[in-house]
Amino acid sequence: MKKVMLMLMAIVFVVAGCTVAGQKGPKAQTKAGALDERVELKLPPHIKVKQKAGMRVHMDTLSEIVLALSENDFKKAAKTASEKLGWNKDESAQCRKMSKMAGEEGFYELGMAVHKKADELAAYAAAEDKDNALRAFSELVNNCNACHKTFRH
Ligand code: HEC
Repeated sequence: MKKVMLMLMAIVFVVAGCTVAGQKGPKAQTKAGALDERVELKLPPHIKVKQKAGMRVHMDTLSEIVLALSENDFKKAAKTASEKLGWNKDESAQCRKMSKMAGEEGFYELGMAVHKKADELAAYAAAEDKDNALRAFSELVNNCNACHKTFRH
């Protein structure tokens, strides 16, 4: 009986999921927007496309860093973290620009936290301290997601 109930619940979830996914057009979008309580970044569509492309590059960078750590290639992990994700003038200018464009000061702070954590990770990797490098990696991912939990497109 329990099994049957579970099966039924699973079917209901799948069907409900398909219905939502199947809805297209502005009406469905408005509905999704209303359900999503995060702050919408008021950026022009082409900037949103660019921002998301940059985000996918960040994912590649995370993958490169953790792969290098798994291979004990500390030099590579440190170089990738600091050069591709570290805090520098360019990153600061980029985060500032986005934050101003969207009119959201918090965006800058959340961005800076990610880049500074990447520098911390790089320092641990350079010191061949794998445990702390991995811990910093985990915190870095949490920092990424702190922004995703606050803002949306
Ligand atoms: C300061 C804010 C902020 C930070 C920090 C941030 N992101 Fe994002 N990210 C966003 C926003 C805004 C979106 C768009 C979300 C949406 O579509 O509603 C996004 C989207 C994404 C996406 C989806 C891209 C797509 O193709 O739809 C990925 C993947 C992603 N981020 C990865 C990362 C990673 C990895 C990090 C950390 C290294 C990171 N982000 C840090 C704001 C941020």
